[in-house]
Amino acid sequence: MELLMILLVTVIPVISDGLSVRGPSAPLVAPLGSSVVLLCSVDEPLPVEGLEVEWRRPDSETLVHLYQDGASQTEAQQQDYQDRAHFFTEEIQHGNFSLRLDDLRAEDEGQYTCTVHGQQDSGETVVEIKDVVRLLVSGSDESISASVGEDVTLSCSVDSHITPEHFDVTWKKTDENIQVLLFQDNKTLPDSSDERYRDRVELFTAEIPKGNFSLRLKSVRTEDKGVYMCEVFAGGLSANTTVELERLGFSVSHIMVLILCVSASGSALLLCCLIYCRNQNGFTVTYSQNTRVRLGSSVVLKFYRVKPLQTEDLKVEWRRKDTKTLVHLYQDGESQAQQDYQDRAHFFTDQIQQGNFSLRLDKLKKDDAGEYTCRVHSKQRSVFSTQFTLEKDFLYLNVKVSSAPLVAPLGSSVVLPCFCAKSLLSNDLKVEWRRKETLVHLYQDGESQAQQDYQDRAHFFTDQIQQGNFSLRLDDLRAEDEGQYTCTVYNKQRSVFSAQTSLEPRLLDSVLRLHLFLVVCPNMIMFFAFVFWGVSEGSVSETVCCCALYFLRPLLLLWAALYIKNRFSVQIKTWIQKYSYVAEYAVFSVVIYSALFASAWERFLNYAVFNKVMIIVLFAIVFVCCLCKITYILVTEVGKKSGRIVKIFDLVADMTFQILPTLQFILLFYTFGAARGGMIMIVVLPVVLMMMTNDRWLYKCRYGLG
Ligand SMILES: *[C@@H]1O[C@H](CO)[C@@H](O)[C@H](O)[C@H]1NC(C)=O
Ligand SMILES: *[C@@H]1O[C@H](CO)[C@@H](O)[C@H](O)[C@H]1NC(C)=O
Ligand SMILES: *[C@@H]1O[C@H](CO)[C@@H](O)[C@H](O)[C@H]1NC(C)=O
Ligand SMILES: *[C@@H]1O[C@H](CO)[C@@H](O)[C@H](O)[C@H]1NC(C)=O
Repeated sequence: MELLMILLVTVIPVISDGLSVRGPSAPLVAPLGSSVVLLCSVDEPLPVEGLEVEWRRPDSETLVHLYQDGASQTEAQQQDYQDRAHFFTEEIQHGNFSLRLDDLRAEDEGQYTCTVHGQQDSGETVVEIKDVVRLLVSGSDESISASVGEDVTLSCSVDSHITPEHFDVTWKKTDENIQVLLFQDNKTLPDSSDERYRDRVELFTAEIPKGNFSLRLKSVRTEDKGVYMCEVFAGGLSANTTVELERLGFSVSHIMVLILCVSASGSALLLCCLIYCRNQNGFTVTYSQNTRVRLGSSVVLKFYRVKPLQTEDLKVEWRRKDTKTLVHLYQDGESQAQQDYQDRAHFFTDQIQQGNFSLRLDKLKKDDAGEYTCRVHSKQRSVFSTQFTLEKDFLYLNVKVSSAPLVAPLGSSVVLPCFCAKSLLSNDLKVEWRRKETLVHLYQDGESQAQQDYQDRAHFFTDQIQQGNFSLRLDDLRAEDEGQYTCTVYNKQRSVFSAQTSLEPRLLDSVLRLHLFLVVCPNMIMFFAFVFWGVSEGSVSETVCCCALYFLRPLLLLWAALYIKNRFSVQIKTWIQKYSYVAEYAVFSVVIYSALFASAWERFLNYAVFNKVMIIVLFAIVFVCCLCKITYILVTEVGKKSGRIVKIFDLVADMTFQILPTLQFILLFYTFGAARGGMIMIVVLPVVLMMMTNDRWLYKCRYGLG
């Protein structure tokens, strides 16, 4: 360090009023903490008697050292110098009055006067300590805590003999080794900041001349947490200080994100619970009957009550829906066939008691094809109704019960209808009621036997067998009663007749609405959560991608949701089935690739030439792949074209779609990846294997293109 003492060629004028006192030939420069000798001597040694040597700082009039009466007067000198100033008493005889100053400090910079009073003469010299060489960087000892979104100041102040304009100051985040800010050549270089900190950091320009290089970090994010280092380089020295940013509190948007996330999962759970609870509150009872009837013969449009019903004040209306004509009316105990149907419509008045409201239509004509409804009114109120469709089919009419949406709540009773129009011999009759394969009830040899589980709950109308009524009443309905019930009637060991009724869990409109909410709500809440997250964290690409994902998710869910789909009109249903998840995939891909591309573009300049080429080629391939598929879909679905070219497109699109995920991986590796060595194992090998083993492609090539 002694070498650092630079001798500057400036001759300090010797102020003398007789005695010639010599000082150093140049101002002194010494490192902080070192010792420096302030030279002061006279050519001719002076007699010791009456000699007085006074070292003083003229600017503050501080007495640094006093030699008087043959001794150092330590009491007189400034406290601060008592230990640090060393006077060479033994050198006095050589006319050498130098003073050693130990443990040099920054405030020791300045002028010192050495005044020598001899017996007659006195003289003085000025010694200057020009620079105490130092570079001290200090920060704050305490770690800083802040809320997300706030601004914080990370302090760093520099004390040096060099002026702050000549510093190189680097602010780094040490745990991740990210450059936060660079100050060089008396200016801040904004482009050298990592993109995470770009536009968010600044120095206090007005404070720089004071050596205050504190950093202002604006709108703090959670990821900013960590240790920051302020590193200063100047005149070949370097020093640093660290500041810790910790304990990031939650900001308002964080709390919003939290609330939204919780409510998203909460709403999903709640909706699921609601759907579960309300789902199982009853059954929709339908009995199916698809029969073919020859023109000219008779058909019985079977319509039964499946719920016990009061028979007084009953009105049964059979109508043709398409022509709005009344076919048959039963009112006030009287049966009236209308106009055209006078002879042909037959109502089973005697079986109303048993809940049979069927209508027999004789001598079927072609014109009878159409839609029929039967409505039962009890006490002026419509109680239930059902629709029938008769379809023309050459010489036949197809009869379909399109709906019999009757609701039987859990715990209630339901009558599973089974009527036979033909009269059967009542001896040697066997009636079997089965639920899928399980036997529910058996009537054989004049005896009625309910099976096991159904012992108390199944009721067979033994007394009504004569009228051809083999219905079964099921009491105290339970959730597990769901399923299809078949009634099979055997006469002399031969199956002569069978009917089917199914109990399906009823889906209320409200439940469907809940389903719809389940599809849309949690996703929309998450969408907003990500909007808030984006606002607080400021990472645009991630926010856009996540928002897009949640925004598009309902499309996929609609595609998967069974119940809701049934509620939409045919057009919407087809659209959902065909395009909704494709649309989700396509739009999401576009968003994610735009984000990736934007991100890659920002770093583009930093890549090596080979990598640049690779990235462009990969993006182009991925783009062409997607374009192929889109073109194919457009041409076949919209243009309704076919042919060799389309087949080639299909083939290319199909193949590329299989390697697309791998390509995407390569792209990611290249654009953002670190371990490129592992890429071959992870990415390239599977592609090669797949290409070798996938003979579907070969097949397609050979047969698809002929
Ligand atoms: C005076 O004494 C100091 C300390 O011993 C020494 O470094 C310096 O060279 C001397 N000066 C002269 C002129 O001899
Ligand atoms: C450093 O920059 C400040 C303001 O930017 C200016 O006032 C000062 O003169 C500059 N100093 C040098 C040595 O260029
Ligand atoms: C540096 O400047 C900032 C902003 O004016 C101030 O808050 C801080 O206290 C200063 N630091 C020092 C050590 O003066
Ligand atoms: C920071 O300074 C300490 C001494 O104060 C030193 O040991 C350390 O190596 C420095 N760190 C860097 C990164 O320069």
